[in-house]
Amino acid sequence: MVEAVQGAKVVVTGAGGGIGAALARRFAGQGAQVVVNDLDADRAEAVAEEIGGIAVPGDASRVVPEALDALGGRIDVYCANAGVGRDGGEPGGPLDEQGWTLSWDVNVMAHVRAAHALLPDWLERGSGRFVSTVSAAGLLTMIGTAPYSVTKHGAYAFAEWLSLTYRHRGVKVHAICPQGVRTDMLTDSGSAGELVLRPTAIEPEDVAEALFRGIEEDRFLILPHPEVAEYYQARAADPERWLGGMNRIQRHWEATR
Ligand SMILES: NC(=O)c1ccc[n+]([C@@H]2O[C@H](COP(=O)([O-])OP(=O)(O)OC[C@H]3O[C@@H](n4cnc5c(N)ncnc54)[C@H](O)[C@@H]3O)[C@@H](O)[C@H]2O)c1
Repeated sequence: MVEAVQGAKVVVTGAGGGIGAALARRFAGQGAQVVVNDLDADRAEAVAEEIGGIAVPGDASRVVPEALDALGGRIDVYCANAGVGRDGGEPGGPLDEQGWTLSWDVNVMAHVRAAHALLPDWLERGSGRFVSTVSAAGLLTMIGTAPYSVTKHGAYAFAEWLSLTYRHRGVKVHAICPQGVRTDMLTDSGSAGELVLRPTAIEPEDVAEALFRGIEEDRFLILPHPEVAEYYQARAADPERWLGGMNRIQRHWEATR
């Protein structure tokens, strides 16, 4: 049992499947009371029923007030997990404005809105935990999708900012940055996902396990694929070399897709 989350009141967005469902199951297994949010009401209800949680379906950006009602007026842990992977259109081709807007809204602004709703109470109580499911794309990039790469960098930057701004006031922040995870999103990620994510993909439960280890060790950056630390260092140490390497992957993808 992880003491920090025993009996905690937890919200997980995008928890109707994939990583969110694994996080919800793991928190419930630790005796937490869990609100299961997802745009897909049937899937949210199925997971809530399975784990003895409470389904609060709908857009992740608007979940906090209803979740507070469901949990008796307190949220201890908020997992900003819902995410979308859109490609945004090839430069030179039609720009997918909707894809960009949706990516900003779900991958970044939903986190910002939740933090605004939660922080007054957390700062008053001197405690609260914000878990952001980012992606290794937030530290590196994702071949073939500019909106995903850019908005995941945004999600990471926001989590980082929250952590450095409020850590001395009792707010804990964790940024989870996995590469491939076997979920619907990986299945939908097309040939780029097959090339760069599938070969080293892990299970959603492995991501939950990595988060819980990170909570026990009080760590901000959660890397379910430890090798991402080396790639992140290589990118910072020599951007030209890193870009050259990524371009080789891009060209391999172009030749094989
Ligand atoms: N699967 C991967 O390879 C991978 C890798 C790194 C990071 N991630 C991130 O993990 C998170 C979870 O993705 P997943 O892989 O479990 O995918 P998934 O498609 O299985 O789950 C995402 C869930 O979010 C829900 N959702 C989408 N928009 C929503 C919204 N506005 N409000 C509420 N729910 C919404 C979907 O209905 C879906 O159930 C995402 O943020 C994703 O970017 C995934």
